[in-house]
Amino acid sequence: MFRSIEYIPDKKCVKIIDQTKLPHETIFVELTTYKEIAEAIYTMKVRGAPLIGVTAAYGIALASIEFLDEKIEIFTEKLEQAKTEIDKTRPTAVNLFWATQKMMKKFYALKKTDKTVDEISNFLVEKANKMAEKDVSINFMLGKNGASLISNGDCVLTHCNAGSLATVLYGTALSAITYAFREEKKKINVISDETRPRLQGATLTAFELQYQKIPVKVISDNSSGLLMRLGKIQKIFVGADRITSDGVFNKIGTYMVALAANANNVPFYVVAPSSSLSLSETSVNVKIEERDPFEVSNVLGKTRIVPEGVDCLNFAFDFTPFDLVTKIITEHGIFTSKELIEFYSKKN
Ligand code: MRU
Repeated sequence: MFRSIEYIPDKKCVKIIDQTKLPHETIFVELTTYKEIAEAIYTMKVRGAPLIGVTAAYGIALASIEFLDEKIEIFTEKLEQAKTEIDKTRPTAVNLFWATQKMMKKFYALKKTDKTVDEISNFLVEKANKMAEKDVSINFMLGKNGASLISNGDCVLTHCNAGSLATVLYGTALSAITYAFREEKKKINVISDETRPRLQGATLTAFELQYQKIPVKVISDNSSGLLMRLGKIQKIFVGADRITSDGVFNKIGTYMVALAANANNVPFYVVAPSSSLSLSETSVNVKIEERDPFEVSNVLGKTRIVPEGVDCLNFAFDFTPFDLVTKIITEHGIFTSKELIEFYSKKN
C-alpha cells in the first residue's frame, strides 16, 4: 500500500505522490509553502476527501513555519489568509473545511496561552501529524467494519478511487476490500469503473489493486448496469466526499451506479470516516464542484474528442439520496441512514 503523504521534519516539508502522473510514473514531490499545498489540491496532485483534509491541515502547518518571523497579530492574519486560499481549492469534500477549521481552532486555543510563535508553529505541525496518524487508524477500522459485509467469492464494484491514495493509508471503500482479501483471506474480484473524465478508477484504483495482487478488471462507466443485470456483481462499495442529512456526495457517476444497483437488488455500501459527515446540512446547501470542461473535451488533457466549438459540462460530483444506500460504514460501525443520524446526533 502507498502512504500518500508524509511530513519530513528535517526539511520542514510535506512529501506527496503526484497522482496525476500515476500509474506510469511514481513521482514524489516536496511541498514547502501553503501556496504549493493549495496548488497540489487544486490540480489534483493529491485528491480524495480524507487526503485533501490531511493535506489542507499540513497547509496551515506550513504557513505557520513560513511566517515564523512575524509578530503574533500579523502571524494570525497570515494564517487566516492561508486558510482562505486553501479553502477555495475544492468545494465539495467536507474534509477540507473540517481540517482547516480544526487547525485554526487549535491555533486560537494556543494563542490564548503565553506560547511564542515558534512554539505555536511546532504545535500546529504536531497537530497535522496527529491528524494524519488518526486518518490511518480510522481507515483501518473502516476496512475492518466494511469487510464484514463482503462474502467469500464476491465480485465487488467500486467507483473512482477510494483507496490508500485517497487517504493517508488504507483508503475507505478499498480498505474494506483489501482487509477482506489480506486479513480475512476471502476470494474477491473487483470491478473498477474507469471514472471519466479524470479516470481515477482506471489509473489509481487499478494500480493500487494490481500492486496488492487483488484481481481487478476495469470497465467503461457505461457497463456497470449490464454487469449487475447479468448477476456478475454482488456488492457495490464506494467512498464519500460529504454525507448530508439526506444522502451522499461522491464522484460523478456514483448516482447512476446506485440507481442501477437499486433496480437490480445489488447492495450499495458507502464507506466514509466521520470527518466526511456533515449531517447538520441538506444536499441543497452543497456546492458541487464544476471543473474545466477541457477535462471532458480532451482525453487526459490531450486528444480532443469533441468537435471544436462544442461546449462540455464537467460536474465533478453527484448526489445519491439515502433511499438508494443500503448501509453506511464509518469507523464507529455499520449504519442505516436513520441509525447514522441518530448515532451521530447523540455523539456530538
Ligand atoms: O475528485 P477526487 O478524485 O478527489 O474524488 C474522489 C472521490 O470522489 C472519492 O470517491 C471520495 O473522495 C471518497 S474516497 C476517499
